[in-house]
Amino acid sequence: MRRLLPEPAPGGARDVDPYDAYADAPGLRIGMVMSADGSVTDADGWTDGLGGAADFRVFRTLRALAGAILVGAGTARTGRLGPARLRPGLRARRGGPPAPIVVVTRSADLDWSLPLFTEAETPTIVVTSRAGRARVPSAVRTVTAGEDAVDLPLAVRLLREDLGFGQLLCEGGPALATALVRASLADELCLNIAPTLLGGPHHTRLLGDLATEVPLEPTAVYLDEGVLFLRYRLRA
Ligand SMILES: NC(=O)c1ccc[n+]([C@@H]2O[C@H](COP(=O)([O-])OP(=O)(O)OC[C@H]3O[C@@H](n4cnc5c(N)ncnc54)[C@H](OP(=O)(O)O)[C@@H]3O)[C@@H](O)[C@H]2O)c1
Repeated sequence: MRRLLPEPAPGGARDVDPYDAYADAPGLRIGMVMSADGSVTDADGWTDGLGGAADFRVFRTLRALAGAILVGAGTARTGRLGPARLRPGLRARRGGPPAPIVVVTRSADLDWSLPLFTEAETPTIVVTSRAGRARVPSAVRTVTAGEDAVDLPLAVRLLREDLGFGQLLCEGGPALATALVRASLADELCLNIAPTLLGGPHHTRLLGDLATEVPLEPTAVYLDEGVLFLRYRLRA
């Protein structure tokens, strides 16, 4: 992966290792991929067709650097999100098992027979409301935050203070990422731009209604196999 910005010091290395490049994780990082024309889903309604091998390397790296991996229930409902796994090299660098996936859901209307819930080395956690909790099987570790809706600031605080997950990664989808930005809970956006124009009717935008404009401060740009890796700090 080549570092484009910040410029390396004269004589400094341009090639960077993704794990080193992304190691300075802030409190809550959103990590997502989109096509150059702004779609976060491919023609199959998933993401595998977007970024290719270079994107997967960074995807796996962000997971390895995270304490816990937040996903929205919509992404889990695609049935294509497997339990978190770690390749040997990343496992050695992380120094432990994979981070748990944390599914955020108000309804708790999920298929509990998915491998995400039955085959995870590090058990998947569910964040839900008091109303949703009754629908979660007792074997699934649950964080309850809010009465009818999920109180996201409280959920993030409980994940940090009660469960000890300092660094949080949100992998989307757009609805959850939007809710985190709206609640001013996101510190960083890691946006991977795939070198493709998807066109067609399958556009799902990165974010929905934010209510107010959110200024971004670019902090780094990398390039690998045509994929542009942008890092932005979200300004309060
Ligand atoms: N390109 C990428 O990087 C990327 C990453 C992930 C997903 N995706 C794509 O995104 C699509 C899914 O995205 P999506 O926006 O439809 O769904 P999503 O964000 O994955 O999940 C939405 C669901 O999450 C729960 N949720 C979200 N915000 C919440 C809040 N504030 N409080 C409580 N619950 C909340 C709700 O679950 P309940 O309905 O259960 O209450 C909501 O229906 C898929 O097609 C997937 O392929 C792309």
